[in-house]
Amino acid sequence: MTETPASPTDWSLIERWDRDYYLHNTAGKGEYGFWAVDRMDGAWLTMADGSRLLDFQSQLISDSMGHRHPAIHAEIIRAMDRYGHVFFGMANEYRARAAKLIIEDVLGADNWAGRVRILASGGEAVDNAITMARLYTGKQIVLSQAHGFHGLSVGATMLRGYRNNISSAEAGGPVRDVPGFASQGFMPIPPPEGDDFQTNGELPSIAATRAMIRTVGPENVAAIITEPMLGAGGLFPHPDYMPALYALIREYGLLWIDDEVLCGFGRLGHWFGYQMYPDIHPDIMATGKSINGSSLPSGAVIASKAIAQFFEDARWWSGTTWDGHPLIAASIVGCLEAMLAEDMIGQVQAKGKIVRAGLEALKARHPSIGRIGGSGLYYAVDLVGRNGQPIIKDDRYTGFTGDLSQNPNAIIGRECAARGVFLGGFVPNTVKVGPPFIISESEIDTGLAAFDAALGVLEEGLGF
Ligand SMILES: Cc1ncc(COP(=O)(O)O)c(C=O)c1O
Repeated sequence: MTETPASPTDWSLIERWDRDYYLHNTAGKGEYGFWAVDRMDGAWLTMADGSRLLDFQSQLISDSMGHRHPAIHAEIIRAMDRYGHVFFGMANEYRARAAKLIIEDVLGADNWAGRVRILASGGEAVDNAITMARLYTGKQIVLSQAHGFHGLSVGATMLRGYRNNISSAEAGGPVRDVPGFASQGFMPIPPPEGDDFQTNGELPSIAATRAMIRTVGPENVAAIITEPMLGAGGLFPHPDYMPALYALIREYGLLWIDDEVLCGFGRLGHWFGYQMYPDIHPDIMATGKSINGSSLPSGAVIASKAIAQFFEDARWWSGTTWDGHPLIAASIVGCLEAMLAEDMIGQVQAKGKIVRAGLEALKARHPSIGRIGGSGLYYAVDLVGRNGQPIIKDDRYTGFTGDLSQNPNAIIGRECAARGVFLGGFVPNTVKVGPPFIISESEIDTGLAAFDAALGVLEEGLGF
């Protein structure tokens, strides 16, 4: 591991300002760790103390093209020479180029996608998808899976004031509000069974979802929202799940919102997770993260041809200041053109096989590894105790209370960091292995070696 000198930044001052003034996420004041990054290149982070960490989980399974990918970087800089911000009422070159790349070059062959709107986060893409499904169907309820994660931004769309509604272009024409705007309108369905679930018949999760649709009445359900693989929840569904859920969705005339914020744009070794299954396609797709390698805040909502036409024919009062921002659009253009030129999907498939084989080899040596679920360059590795059961009993139902520092994912994270590798997890018993697509074979070896050693420490602590 090469050592680079610390930059001239006064890190003690930065630490004080960060600790005193920044409103931190997920950690309380007493447990917040100041993990300062000085710079980033490719798959590597250079920390404030000059040490380097291999980013083996692409930050939040987000920075797919590594850090500061030259093609993305160059396109943003070219765009900055011409553009600052252009509001959505005016067009800009990059917005149109990004839309053409997504709808025609990436999704054209699947022949369902009509239009895309470029946004500033995945949460916004999900908010838009929910609103669009409700406006389009005139129904309120959205069903979503336990353990699913779709972002933390829904609240804003519930506020009164100028809000999402739909009006016609004729004077005095109808104005339609979002059905159920001020009420809950969300109901849970079970998570999918894992891909190791043994069954000869219908999956219990599908039977329970059918029962839920019948109970609330399909006439009240706008959409079901799912992730192709539960990202934060770290669960790869049973192969029967998505085709059976899709059949239910079509049988009851619901919309399918496919949340591809984490899985989309290559992560699972396909452009989109839904492409793992033949003959299914979303009605509305939420995307983000890998759309531009997370080089700038980004998201996009993609509507089927019919839904796109519905909104395009109407006058839809919607949007934010940043919709179609030229610099975000330029980062998408840079990313997607590079992905196409470098056959990034092929690379993810090839490197994914190496990662998967490496993880299976670790499982053969480490009894603390239970299920490994995933595809392409995202694997959820479940850790188990000596009885083969989840070490933290609540597992994916955890309330994230108490001292989290002794959770298996935290122990693995600490031990990996001590060995120069950034790796961890969100739910307590699961480690998320999701390196950037540009990772080299030797860097994969480095990441797996640190995980190997960290598992040894975990097992020792558990008395294996
Ligand atoms: C599946 C999924 N949907 C939505 C989001 C929200 O995206 P963002 O954090 O960009 O708002 C995330 C973020 O991790 C996600 O994993």
